[in-house]
Amino acid sequence: MSKEIILSGIRPTGRLHIGNYLGALKNFVKLQNEYECYFFIADFHSLNEPFDPKNKYQQIINLTKDYLAAGLDPKKCTIFAQSQVPEHSELAIILSNVVPVSFLFRMTQYKDKSADRAAENVNSGLLFYPVLMAADILMYHPTRIPVGKDQTQHVELARDVARFFNGKFGPTFIEPQPLYTDSPNIMSIIAPEKKMAKSLGDNHCIYLDDEPETIKQKLAKAVTDTGDGKSLGAKNLLDLVKIFSQPSTHKKFIADQAAGNLKYSELKQTLAQDIADYFAEFRKRKKQISQKDAEKILAAGSKKAQKVAEKTMSAVRTRIGIR
Ligand code: TRP
Repeated sequence: MSKEIILSGIRPTGRLHIGNYLGALKNFVKLQNEYECYFFIADFHSLNEPFDPKNKYQQIINLTKDYLAAGLDPKKCTIFAQSQVPEHSELAIILSNVVPVSFLFRMTQYKDKSADRAAENVNSGLLFYPVLMAADILMYHPTRIPVGKDQTQHVELARDVARFFNGKFGPTFIEPQPLYTDSPNIMSIIAPEKKMAKSLGDNHCIYLDDEPETIKQKLAKAVTDTGDGKSLGAKNLLDLVKIFSQPSTHKKFIADQAAGNLKYSELKQTLAQDIADYFAEFRKRKKQISQKDAEKILAAGSKKAQKVAEKTMSAVRTRIGIR
């Protein structure tokens, strides 16, 4: 029996932090053994926010290295760049005709991001985002989409698009389901009421390729409380201990918390060491991957993906009668 197909992507906007890793990449690595997987670099999707073209290509290569260093294996899954399979944009343009504009204005991500941005940065790419995402998804006929809960509405829209298109033009696409990971929300270490995000600043995040000394310095500044362990900052650090440290270490700190005498300097040092150890192999592998290696893998994966995309597009073009 052939394996179920799954697909997901990450936008190349800079370095990945531990929240990105736990919410996405860690899961991808596991899934590649169970499913036929497409994991891509959503570079088109990264263009709706202000960016410097001088950095964009390096961000794409850097994310490719992250995928590989984290353990994605090009022999097991297809790793590609969205922009190297131009069929994605063609399909998005075609699908836009079955998506009511009102649906796009209703998306919470659009509402949140457009409210946060200066008017001149609220471009139509931001509004169009879910249509392109539907194209990414429907192109490969996946049944499951591993995403964070914040992407639920986008996957739902992809289902709507599949249903509308099939209804209008005949059965063409599969309606995929989201596939969630049960990882806790990782919060900023210095503003623990906010989700860890690069946009908050480097001191808020622990990056996968941070050196051990950097992790130690960052965690030393993490916001906590006087020892009762009830604050959001304490909860966040304890969540991290649970993920990155030994169960016995977690048990000890939980007991200290219950007794009201959590020693944060000890907790932070232990956690810093354990996170550094957890990503030691990752850092080593990432340094060994050359730009050329990453480019080759991306090009080969994109070629493979394009074969599938070309087949889908040929069916789509026939369905809508342009060929
Ligand atoms: N919107 C996703 C995010 O920000 C990235 C993405 C783009 C994606 N296209 C996709 C995820 C298709 C899954 C499937 O995280």
